[in-house]
Amino acid sequence: MVIEKLPKEIKNFKLTDYVGILTAGGPAPGLNATIQSFVYTAFENNIGVLGFHDGYLGVLDNNFSLLVPEALDPNRTHISSINNINVVSVTGIVGQPGSILRNSRTNLMKIDGGIEKAQKNLQNLGLRALACLGGDDTLTVAHELNKAGANVVGAPKTIDNDVQGTDYCFGFDTAINAVANFIRDLVWDAKTTNGIMIVEAMGRRAGWIALEGGAAGGAHAVLIPELYRAKHENPDLYPELEDYRNMEFNVDSVVDIVERRIRRGKHYAVICVAEGYSDEILEAIVSEEKKDIPKDEFGHVRLDKLGIGKIVADYIAKRLNVRTRATQTGYLSRSAATSAFDAYMSINYGIRLMELILEGNYGKMVVMDRSTFVVKDLEIAAQKIRYVQPWRFKNVSKFWSWTLTG
Ligand code: F6P
Repeated sequence: MVIEKLPKEIKNFKLTDYVGILTAGGPAPGLNATIQSFVYTAFENNIGVLGFHDGYLGVLDNNFSLLVPEALDPNRTHISSINNINVVSVTGIVGQPGSILRNSRTNLMKIDGGIEKAQKNLQNLGLRALACLGGDDTLTVAHELNKAGANVVGAPKTIDNDVQGTDYCFGFDTAINAVANFIRDLVWDAKTTNGIMIVEAMGRRAGWIALEGGAAGGAHAVLIPELYRAKHENPDLYPELEDYRNMEFNVDSVVDIVERRIRRGKHYAVICVAEGYSDEILEAIVSEEKKDIPKDEFGHVRLDKLGIGKIVADYIAKRLNVRTRATQTGYLSRSAATSAFDAYMSINYGIRLMELILEGNYGKMVVMDRSTFVVKDLEIAAQKIRYVQPWRFKNVSKFWSWTLTG
């Protein structure tokens, strides 16, 4: 029992209650902005904040720091301690990528008694509530923890932008800027070497980053998982994917685009491929390759080890007898400098998240409905993911086949 150790006063600032916050899953620019505004809003209400380290693992191990709105000792800006509890100041982290708390993919649902132990630890600490920042996996665990009796609220954080229930996940804007800039720069190499470059973008099962980062970067074609997954997802669960089912666009379509470019004298191309992409042509290779690749704590294949970009590059090289090169934007897209949009919006996420707790509105997540914040059940994030809508792919694909000479 550590409850008696939580200070009721910090430098004459009275604390009448405590809440917890954690960040989990893949890092996403904006996490620290959310943490900072969450702490400020809590202290405004004389509520202290425990920041759990390494996602849900920190709750299991009671591994936390006391987060404060300013350094206790101006000469030791970020680290100090009270009652042997580590104290960390959230000063100046608004634009800092990553998370001062660190993330993990610890899955309480996969640990025997994990949910119950976490719920008990939160209860023993006497926390009013726990705020969880993460993607669909993290929010699914948050929903289960809330069902088990803990007071939990959440916010959709993932560069994948694929959390159901929100129009936007913070971290996404930073990721597409990183991918777009990566491609814009790479085009110069392609133009100089008559190169056919394949850029693999993160995004797990959805193609948000590849499509929007690829389009903004001027990619000459983009392949996203939705084109093929639409044909295999349950149409009752995913009616929004219907239009993909009538679309015929796959790796052979890209071969055709590249071949016509070369015929027109444009001997270079940059193609963006989502890491979760596959299709009926490559499926056999992809399935074979996936057999030896480890999965993470939520059962996801580690796609960075699959390297679909290289598989596509090798396929195009073979079909057209040209040299191709593959490169992964990878982890850069989730550790790039937080964009102003992500930092600013995350500030508001953190405030609204703490307000949910003050309202006693548990089992909920703060999400974006177009450009405003609304509140929805955490359960929505657990039911399905949010794929790129067909119209978005159709619009961008207009850029790829223009020619006046056929
Ligand atoms: O969920 C964010 C993400 O970056 C995905 O786009 C990617 O597939 C995954 O995390 C990588 O996970 P890990 O950090 O475990 O390699």
